[in-house]
Amino acid sequence: MRRRLALLVAAAMALVLVAFLVPLALLLRTAAEDRAVAAARIQAQSLGALVATADPGALRLTVEQANVDAAHPVTVFLPDGTVLGAQIAATPAARLAAQRGSFSVAHADGREVLVAVQGLPGGTAVVRSFVPERDLRRGVTRAWLLLAAVGVALLLLGLAVADRLAVAVVRPIRTLAAVSEGLSGGDLDRRAPAGDGPPEVRLVAAALNRLAGRIRDLLRQEREAAADLSHRMRTPMTALRLDAEGLADPGEAARMLEHVGALDRALTAVIEDARRERDAPACDAAAVVAERVAFWSVLAEDQGRAARLDLAPGPLPVAVAAADLAAAVDALLGNVFAHTEEGTGFAVALTAAPGRVELAVSDDGPGFDPAAGERGVSGGGSTGLGLDIARRTAESTGGRLRIAGSRVTVELLTDP
Ligand SMILES: Nc1ncnc2c1ncn2[C@@H]1O[C@H](COP(=O)(O)OP(=O)(O)OP(=O)(O)O)[C@@H](O)[C@H]1O
Ligand SMILES: [Mg+2]
Repeated sequence: MRRRLALLVAAAMALVLVAFLVPLALLLRTAAEDRAVAAARIQAQSLGALVATADPGALRLTVEQANVDAAHPVTVFLPDGTVLGAQIAATPAARLAAQRGSFSVAHADGREVLVAVQGLPGGTAVVRSFVPERDLRRGVTRAWLLLAAVGVALLLLGLAVADRLAVAVVRPIRTLAAVSEGLSGGDLDRRAPAGDGPPEVRLVAAALNRLAGRIRDLLRQEREAAADLSHRMRTPMTALRLDAEGLADPGEAARMLEHVGALDRALTAVIEDARRERDAPACDAAAVVAERVAFWSVLAEDQGRAARLDLAPGPLPVAVAAADLAAAVDALLGNVFAHTEEGTGFAVALTAAPGRVELAVSDDGPGFDPAAGERGVSGGGSTGLGLDIARRTAESTGGRLRIAGSRVTVELLTDP
């Protein structure tokens, strides 16, 4: 924008300067010409006055004296054909002046000035002076250079002022862009400085700040709503706990109560997590995956499923909240249990490579339906959210979710 403004101002100023300076330069040249011709004419006229009055001898002396001092040689053509001063033959212009009177005529190399002295006894005498081209242009080049220098100085001044203006507009816009970047990067505390830049930019800054505040409020409301929703599940869970306590088989009751307790802890974690102001999420993927795999391994044993585990040792830091990664692992392992026959084996592999951590869950079942993975679409009469939860966890790090055969891979980038 700075360059464009500078170009615009340069173009506009160049037009204005050309419109003023070119006529001024031509005027200066004409003025210089007129001055030189006028000086020559005055000199010729003063000699013309002498031609009428002085005798020929005195006149010759005066003309020669004048030619010694004068800038341009003067020639006097007397009516009797005598030529005084610079000796040249009578030019066509001089002969014409003898008949028609005084005038001046332009030649390629200068201007010829002719003054006719009428009323002499023998006819009309003509005083001729010639102003060469260099005298006509005397001082013009310097004046033109001066004009050009003034033009360039004005142009530079205009460019400097335009650049100051452009900086005053561009700097606050850059600040706005940086604030927007910060906001989109999750830093919801970023605000644009008020009162910086021209009024329009200040308006945008105020609107951006309001938008940032609104996003913050909406997120807070969203988290509170999630917390409320989780809290509502406590009532059916209490009923479940009472039912579990009422089971006749004490072993069964203990088992059920343990599961209800785990559910209660998970709910509490969800509520606390939803209500917490978020810092940048992070966890150790190795620890989280190991913990969830241990949980599912107990159920696998109950169902006679062979579990093949290949978990890279930690710590494997990833930019995902522990609860989110745990939810993704649970979604994938939960799917194995929900969508394959009892007894079907499965494998979990956690591998680390430079810049990424990959979690792969596969099973010995029939594999995925090609349409699987669309949010809200379930092939098993459920809610159809599991794979999407895992996908969003992957994508929050810049990675992705891949499904091939009966294998799902969650790619978590560690250098997004
Ligand atoms: N291990 C698997 N083997 C075969 N098909 C699977 C497997 N896991 C998921 N699917 C298929 O992919 C679909 C989508 O899975 P997703 O986890 O997203 O939803 P869901 O399990 O149906 O519902 P939710 O997870 O919300 O309870 C499933 O309905 C199922 O048809
Ligand atoms: Mg599922």
